[in-house]
Amino acid sequence: MAILPGSTLGMLGGGQLGRMFVTAARTMGYEVIVLDPDPHSPAGGLASEHLVKDYDDTGALDYLAQHCAVVTTEFENIPAVTLAYLAKSVSVHPSATTLHIAQHRKLEKEFFREQGLNTAEFVALESEADLDSARDFSYPAILKTATLGYDGKGQVVCHSFDELRSAFEQVAKKPCVLEQRIDLACEVSVVLGRSLDGDVSCFPIAENCHANGVLDVTLVPASISAELADAVIDAATRIANGLDYCGVLAVEFFISTDNRVLVNEMAPRPHNSGHYTLDACDTSQFEQQLRMVCGLRAGSTRLHTPVAMWNVLGDIWPGDGIPQWDAVLKFEQARLHLYGKKEARPGRKMGHINCLGDTLKEAKSLLGQVRETLS
Ligand SMILES: Nc1ncnc2c1ncn2[C@@H]1O[C@H](COP(=O)(O)OP(=O)(O)O)[C@@H](O)[C@H]1O
Ligand SMILES: [Mg+2]
Repeated sequence: MAILPGSTLGMLGGGQLGRMFVTAARTMGYEVIVLDPDPHSPAGGLASEHLVKDYDDTGALDYLAQHCAVVTTEFENIPAVTLAYLAKSVSVHPSATTLHIAQHRKLEKEFFREQGLNTAEFVALESEADLDSARDFSYPAILKTATLGYDGKGQVVCHSFDELRSAFEQVAKKPCVLEQRIDLACEVSVVLGRSLDGDVSCFPIAENCHANGVLDVTLVPASISAELADAVIDAATRIANGLDYCGVLAVEFFISTDNRVLVNEMAPRPHNSGHYTLDACDTSQFEQQLRMVCGLRAGSTRLHTPVAMWNVLGDIWPGDGIPQWDAVLKFEQARLHLYGKKEARPGRKMGHINCLGDTLKEAKSLLGQVRETLS
């Protein structure tokens, strides 16, 4: 039975992804209860109700279970036990099992390989005793903490075994994976929706440029060959099917200079590299998430306009005020999205701007002008 407008949906996490989900849901006539311990969370203020409680507060979880037709998430570091607890009394997507895999880089990479997919070479380092197993690893390599890393945090580049030893100290000897550094031709990602019945609909492949480990720009359509595009779509679909996934899933890929497709990581939720869908596709990734978890048909994933998405970080805030939004809004084809975060800090994601164009070249050129206006 489909969950229809008028129903109440639960959202675990109140960040910008939750905020854009709430916007899509309320536009379509749903109510949303957000659970997030931060009283100023970006999604909380737009939600029908904001439970300012921890993710393991059983009172809050019972309340969600009683009032919501389905519960979903915008944040993969929700404790997997929270999902398991909720799942006893209400539908929850994604599943606790998927979250458990997505929360841990080693389990995630092993899962990709079990699906017959390639990843960068890696070795898991649980403790200091494992370091020796990386003596002959192929350097340069990147040490990544196994859990809680995002936007390049918890990562250290190592050029030798000696550097690995000090890098391991630097990450407080937490469990890690050491991963071969790939010579990148480019990075791409796929955001897809998968229904309870197993129907998969992929949004167009996004080409992503990172700066300091954080997504900077997404370009669509991506400039990869049809052959590589097929391999990427096939891999993302295989991952979603392998998880028996329901909802919106994002998969990040490395394309190496020798033309290999390597799966990097996945996110069991809408993704920063899918923000372009808000203005350039028939359906946004947030509406698609709602459609999937509510048992509705997928919306069209057609790209109607070439787009260059620019992530707006706190770095561009002038010390004594706010950026010149009026100057940006003079560009007719620049679509501004801000997340309502009060405090701008370097590296903090404050919003994004979708620059549209008749061609990708025009969209990129507009992005250049917008960037210049704000810098
Ligand atoms: N093995 C690698 N080889 C080359 N670049 C990498 C590698 N691992 C990470 N990077 C760069 O760092 C970015 C962030 O790393 P990622 O593993 O996706 O972690 P996060 O969870 O922080 O997004 C990647 O998008 C890529 O630009
Ligand atoms: Mg990443």
